[in-house]
Amino acid sequence: MNAPAPRAQVQSFAVRFDYPVVFTRGVFDPANPALAEVLTRRAADRRRVRAALFADAGLVTAWPDLMERAAAYFRAHADRIETVGSPRVVPGGEPIKNDPRFAWKLADELLRAGLDRHACVLVAGGGAVLDAVGFAAALPHRGLRLVRLPSTTLAQADSGVGVKNGINRGGVKNALGVFAPPFGVVNDLDWLRTLSDADWMGGVAEAIKVAVIRDAAFFRELGALAPDLRRRDDAAMERAVRRCAELHLEHIRAAGDPFEQGTARPLDFGHWSAHALESLSRNRVGHGAAVAFGIRLDTRYAWRRGWLDAAAADAVTGLLDRCGFPKWHTALERRSRDGRPAVLEGIERFREHLGGRLALTFPRGIGVAFETDEADPALVERCLDELRQAARQ
Ligand SMILES: NC(=O)c1ccc[n+]([C@@H]2O[C@H](COP(=O)([O-])OP(=O)(O)OC[C@H]3O[C@@H](n4cnc5c(N)ncnc54)[C@H](O)[C@@H]3O)[C@@H](O)[C@H]2O)c1
Ligand SMILES: [Zn+2]
Repeated sequence: MNAPAPRAQVQSFAVRFDYPVVFTRGVFDPANPALAEVLTRRAADRRRVRAALFADAGLVTAWPDLMERAAAYFRAHADRIETVGSPRVVPGGEPIKNDPRFAWKLADELLRAGLDRHACVLVAGGGAVLDAVGFAAALPHRGLRLVRLPSTTLAQADSGVGVKNGINRGGVKNALGVFAPPFGVVNDLDWLRTLSDADWMGGVAEAIKVAVIRDAAFFRELGALAPDLRRRDDAAMERAVRRCAELHLEHIRAAGDPFEQGTARPLDFGHWSAHALESLSRNRVGHGAAVAFGIRLDTRYAWRRGWLDAAAADAVTGLLDRCGFPKWHTALERRSRDGRPAVLEGIERFREHLGGRLALTFPRGIGVAFETDEADPALVERCLDELRQAARQ
């Protein structure tokens, strides 16, 4: 006879998180209170808040006086904010996430600089820099306060407002990382002006993604905005970025699984192949363009599979085309040892990342999504062939 299982004492508690997400312009204008307010929002008994600034090299190249302006800002707010060390420029783009030594060294530096749990790590940059610095900042003392200043459309609309940080390992995107909500987020819309055309449109790919699965009205609005977005109209981009960020925040707040403990990853529509394409192209294809292709592929799959009607599939593809997203990438032609398209390995990577059970999100119509554990490699391969041929025409 088996002995009865010992009775477990079930430990259960809930933790509430809150953080402000502010859109502004001229974040380092000394007269702009937004950043000082975010940094000092929990300042106890008038003590000054300690903050260390890290900035993306690409951002600093585009805005050469940025560090001086930041220093002037902190001088003007010296009664409430004390800067720790000199502001540091860090490598921009995916290489910072591909080098594990970076995060480790930075965590060590933050410790040595004496930053404690009430001190802020302030990081300005694209999604890659935010992910890597955010990961490093989560380690000393089990987590410093992270204040993000996202500087790309993608980071302002999506990655910078969320709760994930991480770096890549062994060619696998975000293989090491933590869930750690930021202390605050301040989006300076002016910074977007200096982005390359591809990075300018990066956030639009995430906006189309979330519109297709969540919000038909926003999808129609993006259709109307497409020509303005392409000709780099500030107001059109502000609208796209703000609405995308709102939908993202709503999902984290209200969908019931902010730390993704279940298998569902509803906002990752189009992402299984996007992550694979980024890695296969050695990051020559950025996250935004890769997501745009991932949406193309999964939309076609949903249509071929009979989940999505032709009119809706055409509407999605048509919007991607009008936004000028590439229809094909040569990295998609790479083959695995078994002769199949190497991008298919992305399905396995995705499955591992989700905890062993595949959960892919597909649209059933514009603004309506569902989840499935099915991914038929032969049908994906057929869709890839069709997309390659269509791109040649
Ligand atoms: N944490 C998350 O939830 C999450 C979500 C989506 C994407 N991501 C990650 O975000 C990363 C992509 O982020 P991204 O699209 O912002 O690209 P990125 O961070 O690679 O930045 C693109 C380029 O723009 C430069 N740059 C940044 N700001 C600039 C500015 N204002 N003017 C001129 N150049 C500027 C950077 O130096 C870089 O060279 C990927 O690593 C992706 O995995 C994370
Ligand atoms: Zn994404």
